[in-house]
Order: sequence, then C-alpha cells, then structure tokens
Amino acid sequence: MLSLGVFVSGRGSNLQALIEAIAAGRLDARLALVVSNMAEAGGLALARAQGVPACALAAGQFASEEEYSQQLSTLLREHGVDFIVLAGYLHKVPAAVIRVFHNRILNIHPALLPAFGGKGMYGHHVHEAVLAYGCKVSGATVHLVDEEYDHGAPVLQRCVPVHEDDTAVSLAARVLEVEHALLPQAVQLFAAGRIRITGRQVTILE
Ligand code: GRF
Repeated sequence: MLSLGVFVSGRGSNLQALIEAIAAGRLDARLALVVSNMAEAGGLALARAQGVPACALAAGQFASEEEYSQQLSTLLREHGVDFIVLAGYLHKVPAAVIRVFHNRILNIHPALLPAFGGKGMYGHHVHEAVLAYGCKVSGATVHLVDEEYDHGAPVLQRCVPVHEDDTAVSLAARVLEVEHALLPQAVQLFAAGRIRITGRQVTILE
C-alpha cells in the first residue's frame, strides 16, 4: 500500500477524488500527509476533516530555498510518505524532493500535454488557451514530475470534446470530471506495481 503525500493549492476536488477512491477500495493507499503552499487552501480543510495530517508550508516562510526544501523533506519523512501526488499544486517542488522521489511523483494537468502546459499554464488559463486556439478536443494528463513544469512522461491521458459554445468554465468542468477518474486510476497503477518506466516510456503492465 502506498503512503501518499498530496500537495494542493486550491479547493482540492482531486484530493477528494483520491479520498473517495480509497474509501471505495479502488485505490490501495493511505493518505499520510497533505501539504499546501496556501494556508487557506480548501484541500487542507478537507484533509483535516478526514483526520489526515495537513500542513501549510510556503517557501516564503524560510530564509532560503534550501531551508524550505529541508523542512519539506523532513515532513515527508516523518509522515512516512513514499509517493507524492500534485493535485492542483501551483508551486515548484524543490529539486531535492524530486530527486529523492524519482519516478514517484505524479501531477494532474487539465489539458493534453505537451500542448497547453508549462509555466503560467494553469487553471482557467489552460482552458482559455485551448478555446482561443480552436481545438476540437482537450483532456487531462497524469504525468511523472521532473524538474521542468509539466514535462515528465505521461502515465494516462484522456480526451474530452470541445463544444462550439464552450466557455473556459464549461470546458473546465468537463475536463475536471475526467481528472477525478484519471488521477486515482493512475495512482492505483503504481500501487499495484503495474508501471514500468524506461526513459520516457511508461508501460502499463497487465
Ligand atoms: C485541476 O484542474 C488540476 O488539473 C489543476 O488544478 C486544478 C485543481 O483543482 N492542476 P482541485 O483543487 O483539485 O479542485
């Protein structure tokens, strides 16, 4: 069973999807810790309501990036986290944490990477850009996390149609529904040992 550290910056509906998947027996994991860079993130309250340790930790609280990174690493170790999920986390994970958790960090992105990803491409910006480009499909991507924003290899991707009368709000809602299914599924593939990673190739084993 995986001991998850979930990082959130916002309302935490993807965290909620993980909580529900665990409760329904669809995900062999326990929530060991929820971390947020925003003290008022809804995701922290959600975690606390479940009795899950929840901690607000922002780089700005520390004298240096190194101190911040050390504190975060200590927290993760103390709570026995062995797998990290970025579920709407809008801050870069320190390089030291990415190194320690190599191939054990997933992120969910609300578009089909590598399109509409990278720095500044988050939340409504993504959906606005998809609509402005005139795309016929969008979707969600769960991918491994490396040191570049939205760059690690995809684990699962799923499409949704873009409708002619879509707004960023209606498209975001359609994508979010897919996110909530895809993220727990992707984490479960790791929990079940069904993932083999060779370079950028992520293979799902039967
Ligand atoms: C989701 O669209 C996710 O893909 C993106 O940020 C949003 C977070 O939503 N990275 P929530 O906080 O999980 O509700």
